[in-house]
Order: sequence, then C-alpha cells, then structure tokens
Amino acid sequence: MMLINLEADKGTFLENLQIVRGPYLQVGTESSIIIRWATDAPVQGKVWYATNPHSLDSMEEETTMTCDHTIKLTGLTPDTKYYYAIGTSRGVQAGQTEDDFFVTAPSQNLMPEQVRPLRILVLGDAGRGNDIAASVRDGYLKFTGTRHTDLWLMLGDNAYDTGTYEEYQRGIFEMYPQLLRRSVLWTALGNHDAGSADSLLQTGPYYELFTMPTCGEAGGVPSGTAAYYSFDYGNIHFICLDSFGCTRTPEGAMLTWLAQDIGASQKDWKIAFWHHPPYTKGSHDSDTEIELIEMRERALPILEAAGVDIVLGGHSHSYERSYLIDGHYGTSDTFTQEMKKDGGSGREDESTSYQKPLHASHSGAVYIVAGTSALADEVVPHPAMYTSLSIPGSLVLDVHGKRLDVKFIDCQGKIQDHFTINRTIALA
Ligand SMILES: [Fe+2]
Repeated sequence: MMLINLEADKGTFLENLQIVRGPYLQVGTESSIIIRWATDAPVQGKVWYATNPHSLDSMEEETTMTCDHTIKLTGLTPDTKYYYAIGTSRGVQAGQTEDDFFVTAPSQNLMPEQVRPLRILVLGDAGRGNDIAASVRDGYLKFTGTRHTDLWLMLGDNAYDTGTYEEYQRGIFEMYPQLLRRSVLWTALGNHDAGSADSLLQTGPYYELFTMPTCGEAGGVPSGTAAYYSFDYGNIHFICLDSFGCTRTPEGAMLTWLAQDIGASQKDWKIAFWHHPPYTKGSHDSDTEIELIEMRERALPILEAAGVDIVLGGHSHSYERSYLIDGHYGTSDTFTQEMKKDGGSGREDESTSYQKPLHASHSGAVYIVAGTSALADEVVPHPAMYTSLSIPGSLVLDVHGKRLDVKFIDCQGKIQDHFTINRTIALA
C-alpha cells in the first residue's frame, strides 16, 4: 500500500499552482467588493479577510473549479480597511501581509465633519506596457507616497494594439500590481480595447477581464450593460460611457439611460468619463472625428443640464484642460467668450478657484483630456482649453466635501497643472 504524505502533497500543489493575473479589485461599494485573480490550473478559489491583519478569520470560497476567480465579499463595514489573502482550500497563495488590503467606500450618509479626503487616480491611453507607462506610474506613486488611492479610472485604450489577453497582461496586470491589489479599478472602453471586444454582445477580453455594475449595485440607475454604467463613491457620482462600441444616437439606449441616471443623482459631485473627448486638438481632432463630434453634440447637453462638474477623456495623447465652460456643442471655431463661466485658471494661488453652485444646471464644467499615460504627442491649443501640454503623466482628483482639487502629475511626481472647484450655496 502506498502511503501519501498529505502535508507534502499540499505544499507541492501550492508551489506548482501559479497566479497568472491579479489579485485585483472590482466594483467596490461601502459594503461589498469583488476580488478577482487567475491561476494556471483550475481550483476552487478562496479569500480570507479581516480588519486585523494577523487574524484573517472571515472567509469566502468558490463552489466550482475554475482558472478565473471572482469572489464577492459582502456585509462589509463602510470606510474600513480590510486585509486579505487569496488561495485555495489547500492554503494561502498570496496576500496575508500588512500591504495586502482594501478600503471600503465611505458611508453614503455622513455628517460634514465626518467627511474625509478622497483620492482618485486617472490614467488615459495607458495600455502600452512601455517605459513611459512605468515612469508615469512611478511619478504618481512618488507623488502620493503613503496616501491611499481610494479608486482609479482608466479612460480607454487600456491595452494596445487590439485589446488581447496578452496585451492586457502587459499593459495592466504586469504594470500596476500594487494599485490593482489595493484600489478598485473602473475602466472605460477605448477603440483599441474594442479591437477584440464587442460592446453589444459584451464579449471579448475587455468584458471578460473586468466586472462592471450593470444592475445599479454600486449606486445609480441600472444600465443593464457592462459597456456603460455608473456608481457612487462617497459624495461623488461617476458615469462611464462607451463612446465607441454603443450607439450614440439621442434616442439610443445609452443616452436615454444617461439622462435618467444623472438626472436622478443628488451627489455633491458628478464626474463623467469616456474615451473619445468632446474637445481636443492633439493626436485627434474633435472638429473632424465622428465619435468626438457626436459625444459633444449629444451627450454634453444632457450632462450640462444636470450640472456635471468634470468630464474626462483620452484618445489624444495629450493633456488638455478647459476653463469652466458651458454650452459649447459646435466646432472649435464656434467657441465664444460667453461660453466661459469662468475664464481664469481656477488656481487659488494665482487668482480664485472655480465656484459652482450645488445641483445647478448649466453652471459650468471642466473638460480634461488625460491621454498621456503611455505616450505624449504634439498638441495645439483648442480655444476651450486653459492649458495644453505634451507631457506624459497622470491625473489626480482630490475630493474633500465641497472642494475638488485636480492635479496633473508628471513622471517625476511634480504637479504640471492644477485647479480647484469649490461648491457654493445656490441662490434662489
Ligand atoms: Fe483611442
């Protein structure tokens, strides 16, 4: 009879089992989070977690064998740091250190004195897996230091050239392992991602690799699709649109949903993001390209009527940041001074911050192209822009109650542009 050493067998199994992707965090809310990772052999995945890093005494386990692991943790406490580890019933494979943690979203109903600062990282056109992407990442990590990144957005073209699994591996999973395991990533689809993905069928690597809130489970009106969605985080309402793979007609499903969703939100801040920017004179031209023209003509009136504050895009490999503007839906030669709600810099150290009443229609928004997270091309000024830069970098949104500070960070961790929006009391 052959004797089996169970402990040795367990150790050998775990040594041979490789994590090939992740862990990474998705759809984080104040009470839940999804942890995903992939292994090179099918196993039943398991997550251990707790607020005490030395005693991960809560556990969630998959019920089937798979290589692609998705485990949702529920019943979590808002605004709380949880430590975690991943593995199988045979043991822990990764995590279980003081560096492996996530922080749940703040409670939706806080008193003003309870509100803490929130930090959001934004990367655009980042998916080249090149030295510039690594430098932009390191510049941000140097800038933020020990301060936690509450969440991060990717504005599309997250994997060049055609959005294959191999390109996501190089462009995202091997490039941002620290961010992926501690901060929830929310993605928008770009034209390069769409090279291997179908938004109508929601198939392909982009839709397989990322989990989106299709049922309103993170706040907002259910979109019913992973192509576009919304979510709440603290006092912010985020909206992600698909400017490439979905119909952009005014009566189409996406813009119909958009009007319902943003119209229903009572959050202090409304931030929209998608890939093809409404205003740019960089490596793409918003006067001549159909996706950019249609998003400007059709999505912007809906957003501005509902008081959107910030609109983020990529596609052009430039950094372009507008004044506080409203009502510009034509080509760049139709931009007028009257469309500037504030024609200043929005910098308190130079003049004054931008001021916006709470929940006020057509009160001005700042439009930002942040497409230099892996490449910086030449740019000429669009008349709506306060500044246009050809510098690799990332964007940081710092939200603290009724104040929003935006900073563009270069590869050295230095601030290359900044402005502030302050909420004011709406006058009757
Ligand atoms: Fe693009």
